[in-house]
Amino acid sequence: MALSPPSERIWWNVPIARTELVWIIIALIWGLVMFFMMIYWHGAGEQNLSNEAYRITPEAFQAKTQAVVDKYKVREESGIPVVKPPPGSDIYLIARLWQWWPIYELEKDKKYRIHMSSMDWQHGFSLQPVNINLQIHPGYDMVLTVQPDKAGEYGIVCNEYCGIGHHNMTGKMYVVDK
Ligand code: CUA
Repeated sequence: MALSPPSERIWWNVPIARTELVWIIIALIWGLVMFFMMIYWHGAGEQNLSNEAYRITPEAFQAKTQAVVDKYKVREESGIPVVKPPPGSDIYLIARLWQWWPIYELEKDKKYRIHMSSMDWQHGFSLQPVNINLQIHPGYDMVLTVQPDKAGEYGIVCNEYCGIGHHNMTGKMYVVDK
């Protein structure tokens, strides 16, 4: 039991029991299998996103986001700008306590590069109901290339606990059929 010291002082020289060794080997093999499945699922299961990551300061990221918002804002929803950038462009989504900013309106079947970064600490980007999940860190620009194939309203929730307002950290994204 862990609360009392091992009876043998040189405990690491005590031979491992057979059953324990078997479990260690099983766990090791399973770990290796899952490691290679991760690579396999990338292609076959359409899981494990091909995202890119770059270093960026929160100030620089905020400036890039603001530039896109200023240029392509079409309306506002409860004080949050709704932005409609041209297809094929780079768009920027800010994660901060406790908000996803701004709201984007994308066109169906068109490609966009979504950049995401945090202004403060770690948040979790979760796009619902498609279930795309990414960790968003301050200082890193996470880039995801998307081509939405279904029109509608998508919800963004933060799925990484980030403090008292975590449960209110929701956002949205629209995909429209032209
Ligand atoms: Cu941001 Cu939880």
